[in-house]
Amino acid sequence: MKEKRGRITRDGIRIYEPEDFAGMQKAGCLAARLLDEVIAQVRPGISTAEIDAYITRRITEEGATSATIGYKGYRHASCISVNHVVCHGIPGDKRLKEGDILNIDITVIVDGWYGDSSRMYVAGRPGRKAERLMQVTHDALMKGIEAVRPGNTFGDIGHAIQTHVEAQRMSVVRDFCGHGLGRVFHAPPNVLHYGRPGTGPVLEEGMFFTIEPMVNLGRPETKVLKDGWTAVTRDRSLSAQYEHSIGVTADGAEIFTLSPAGRFHPTWEG
Ligand code: MF3
Ligand code: CO
Ligand code: CO
Repeated sequence: MKEKRGRITRDGIRIYEPEDFAGMQKAGCLAARLLDEVIAQVRPGISTAEIDAYITRRITEEGATSATIGYKGYRHASCISVNHVVCHGIPGDKRLKEGDILNIDITVIVDGWYGDSSRMYVAGRPGRKAERLMQVTHDALMKGIEAVRPGNTFGDIGHAIQTHVEAQRMSVVRDFCGHGLGRVFHAPPNVLHYGRPGTGPVLEEGMFFTIEPMVNLGRPETKVLKDGWTAVTRDRSLSAQYEHSIGVTADGAEIFTLSPAGRFHPTWEG
């Protein structure tokens, strides 16, 4: 029998039903709540493995599942990317130092729905350049989300992000992108964080995807270390990233991974 629910567009993008938003809200809200809790863990002297152990324990306590443990051989509940690490940093024994900036990225599965989000944290206080980088990256994500509405295109999202970042003389990473998600972790389309207005697939109500721009203070090029995961800036400049999971509504976007405490950014004040 043909499945009634869930049309797929000609670009291979699933269109979810109105009742599916509730599943994404629950998964996204848990991801956001856990990222809020992590704020209190991040400080000079803690290791990224210790932060990851905390996240693993909390996901279990909530009765949820980590989407990253066992994903393509990845063994941790979070990616923790410190300073010049762009993304997919592997939690380890290295301890945070005063002024380190880090992205913590988690994806939880709740009732089969995926909630994927990441934010920037600071061990102690950030330097001025680091603080500016994080602000620009956060604002770029929000400008991307503002471009989300039925009839706009994925190129409009990328263009909004790229324009904001490059006006600040920073660069958008090209080597990694956002992605569709829902009852799967990674699905079409690739959500590019750069682009030209009016290009790419047209946005439709019921699409679920992430926007997760990575921004470098220096050049955009990255390389992956021998561990097969850790992506770093080639010029070793600082990098930042923020990620939300969103759904396209009749007239805009619903952000599934908003912080219940209003602490998505900044995470280091108060
Ligand atoms: N959460 C990441 C994303 O935003 C994916 C991490 S995959 C892992 O898509 F295996 F590295 F954890
Ligand atoms: Co993602
Ligand atoms: Co993520």
